[in-house]
Amino acid sequence: MIIDTELFAAPLQGFTDCVWREAHAMTFGDIDAYVAPFMRVEHGEPRRRDLADIDPEHCRHHTVIPQILACRPLDAVLMAERLKALRYSRVDINLGCPFKPIALKGINGQGCGMLRHPEAVRQLFTALAAVDGMSYSVKMRLGWDDASQWRDILPLMELLRPTHITVHPRIGLQQYGGELLTEQFGALLAASPYPINYNGDLTELQHIDDTLRRFPKLAGVMIGRGLVAHPHMLCPDRADRLLDFHQMLFDGYRERLTGGDHQLLRRMQALWEYFLPDAGHRLRKAIKKANSLAHYEQASQDCITDYISKI
Ligand SMILES: Cc1cc2nc3c(=O)[nH]c(=O)nc-3n(C[C@H](O)[C@H](O)[C@H](O)COP(=O)(O)O)c2cc1C
Repeated sequence: MIIDTELFAAPLQGFTDCVWREAHAMTFGDIDAYVAPFMRVEHGEPRRRDLADIDPEHCRHHTVIPQILACRPLDAVLMAERLKALRYSRVDINLGCPFKPIALKGINGQGCGMLRHPEAVRQLFTALAAVDGMSYSVKMRLGWDDASQWRDILPLMELLRPTHITVHPRIGLQQYGGELLTEQFGALLAASPYPINYNGDLTELQHIDDTLRRFPKLAGVMIGRGLVAHPHMLCPDRADRLLDFHQMLFDGYRERLTGGDHQLLRRMQALWEYFLPDAGHRLRKAIKKANSLAHYEQASQDCITDYISKI
């Protein structure tokens, strides 16, 4: 099946860091751009590890779009300026994070929580638009507690003139489950003068094809959990590269993490929260129970080899 649209990899904090993105791009490719997990300001400065994740040195084999968590205009501008200094000319703005400690932070919320505070969004966009030489995209949901809240946000896009808007057709209160509100999504798509990308529950090539047929006006799609679960999702005939992909992650984390074997083991085990959910149950269990790197390496190799042999 040939998919003729722009393909974006979604940011998943804790999963799609630069090691994962590099390994994915080098092993499977097919992604036009990877959006990095959001960066934020802490104690008046962008967090060092967020900056390290999008350091061009660590992103040599993939196109990355840094993302900032929508917040106070001053902090947002600080991040945009810092990204400009790293020679980035586009930034994605997070208006979608539904995690309550973030979404409900402060008077105006952050991420998805801001969608019910259009005035705060106006101030944020106005401040960012004044940063010279930076273009923006926005990643958002339909609303925080009401799926029509986007109607007050869309007109504000004029301030920013985004290259595109990625929409997850849920509201914040739904978190990452429950019904996809495709009718409201269709209304947003029809009303938007800006290119719209669809993001939500695309876990097979067929889902992408179906979505593009249902919404022909789409500019692209973004894939999150589906790609972490099955990194070969866009090229099923390359599933035999999963072992190489996994090895690249292992080597990449061994190089980057400074906390020794234990930290590396925990990092690799965390991957399996989403990775290959349909691999053999007993083999997956052995990975979770591994208490040394040697056990982990054997168990993961057995599991991936068995998985490949059965597809
Ligand atoms: C563990 C986890 C971490 C996420 N981190 C981010 C993030 O940093 N920035 C963001 O915009 N979205 C984040 N998301 C949302 C995803 O990018 C995506 O919008 C969501 O998972 C829906 O797409 P999917 O159904 O293809 O996974 C995260 C989602 C999950 C499950």
